[in-house]
Amino acid sequence: MGGMEFNKIFAAILVAGIIAMLSGFVAKKLVHPHELKENAFKIEGVAAVGGAAPKEKLAEPILAMLATADIERGKKLSKACAACHSFDNGGKNGVGPNLWNVVGIQKQSHSGYKYSGVLNANGEENWTYEALNKFLWKPKKYAPGTKMNYIGIKKPEDRAAMVAWLRTLSDAPKALPGATEIAAEQADLAPEKEESADIKEAIDTIKEGVAEEKRDLEQSKDKLNDLEAEISKSEAELKTQQEKVEDAKETIKNVVKDAVK
Ligand code: HEC
Repeated sequence: MGGMEFNKIFAAILVAGIIAMLSGFVAKKLVHPHELKENAFKIEGVAAVGGAAPKEKLAEPILAMLATADIERGKKLSKACAACHSFDNGGKNGVGPNLWNVVGIQKQSHSGYKYSGVLNANGEENWTYEALNKFLWKPKKYAPGTKMNYIGIKKPEDRAAMVAWLRTLSDAPKALPGATEIAAEQADLAPEKEESADIKEAIDTIKEGVAEEKRDLEQSKDKLNDLEAEISKSEAELKTQQEKVEDAKETIKNVVKDAVK
């Protein structure tokens, strides 16, 4: 094989190699763009609002119901308490203290009974109508750690009946609540209070979600800019490579021409 032939073959291999290298480079740029690791548009705020844990309800107010409550029903319901409490004047303490004259008195004050000491932990010192309502609704929620192992009375009418009956267990029953007391209890246990708190919380969550989305968007923009910069760079590189190929072709042509001469 002559030197001339060898040069031709060498030139052909050189061109093929350059083209293969170039196409690999271009293909890599085209097929593997930088991928965003996360979705640019996350809508977390909305999902969080939908999935928010429901808040514990408050006891329904009962003071307005006391004047007309069913006292006989209260007496009947007291059977559920009788396993632990006596109700007669001078009755013995059982698992729980005797409950004669309990309405309106200081909490944990029945002589000879050993209380847990937590019944006034929330700062309410006396068994007002409102305190009794909240306690009898869910004893363990009202006074965490109480010795009273009783689930509570769910229906507001039943609690009103129970408290109205308890009120009669006295030589001098406490006065029924007046308009001011009734209004104060309703304000304290108003469901709107919970709702407005819920709404405020929901708005805060949405605000947080929007702020986060904005941050994500900002990040995505940055990434997009980077990507665009890289594409421009690749284009420039491609151009340089093309020019090099042109040069190489020119050189090869000349080599071949020279060789053929
Ligand atoms: C399983 C037993 C049990 C049952 C049932 C029960 N109690 Fe009690 N109760 C207790 C105990 C024990 C205490 C003392 C709580 C403490 O010291 O933490 C108590 C405390 C009380 C007090 C506070 C008394 C005070 O002197 O401060 C009231 C009021 C009361 N119970 C009402 C009731 C009513 C009304 C019912 C029925 C609807 C009832 N309880 C059912 C065990 C019981």
